[in-house]
Amino acid sequence: MASALFEHIAALHAPRAWGRILDAGAGVNSVRWMAGLPGESLTAVTGSPSMARTVERAAGGRLKPEDRLITGNWSDPELLKGERFDTVIADYLIGAMDAFSPYAQDLIFDRLKAHARGRLYITGLEPYVLDRPSTPAGTMVCEIGRLRDACLLLAGERPYREFPAEWVVRHLERGGWRVIDVKRFPIRYRAKFVDGQLDMCAARAARLTDPALRAALEARIATLRGAGHAMAEADGGLRHGADYVIAAEPA
Ligand SMILES: C[S@@+](CC[C@H](N)C(=O)[O-])C[C@H]1O[C@@H](n2cnc3c(N)ncnc32)[C@H](O)[C@@H]1O
Repeated sequence: MASALFEHIAALHAPRAWGRILDAGAGVNSVRWMAGLPGESLTAVTGSPSMARTVERAAGGRLKPEDRLITGNWSDPELLKGERFDTVIADYLIGAMDAFSPYAQDLIFDRLKAHARGRLYITGLEPYVLDRPSTPAGTMVCEIGRLRDACLLLAGERPYREFPAEWVVRHLERGGWRVIDVKRFPIRYRAKFVDGQLDMCAARAARLTDPALRAALEARIATLRGAGHAMAEADGGLRHGADYVIAAEPA
């Protein structure tokens, strides 16, 4: 899915120059893609030292001498103070913010405006964990998401908190951005998603000290893994929800 979203951003951006690029929520996918763009330089920010190490390992070889991978937090007023970028891309940043600067998601629009000379592109995932879907595939995706969040919470971690495109557009407009384009990309989750999410559950369940609770969660993980695989295989993936790309400019 990442490449479809990035291709869409590239199509929206043409024929503008990329100039100085800011990856405001760095990860392996975004850094790999942005490092290959014909811009002047890439500055990639992550809030997580372990993510910085992962990106360095997976994509460090693609970075040019003028590129930077910075570990910092958008709640720190000193981070990139006074620096301006021609293109700012926030790739799944907002949904991850709860773990790094909880309840500050609304402040990111002003913060990025201070750094943006030109276009801002935001990608995100429409929230789905609290949905009541009408399809078996949707129900399966929600059940997996709920179990994942329950395991994270029981292990003392903060789950992602995704925000809908509508919420992002409202905050952009209130914050003096002009929204140019909003596009949703329907998702088809594969067996890899089922395993990735349930492996995350299993790692958290293994840390719990209450053996009855751990056993109950492990049983639920096994049930959803079997049923999720069977359904994804039979239907060519679990079709539910959407990612989105929003393009905006300072008004
Ligand atoms: C889900 S990951 C982004 C995924 C990524 N773009 C990719 O390539 O797959 C979210 C990123 O945003 C960063 N992040 C979230 N909140 C942050 C904050 N308050 N300050 C700085 N970085 C933050 C995380 O540390 C992480 O690097």
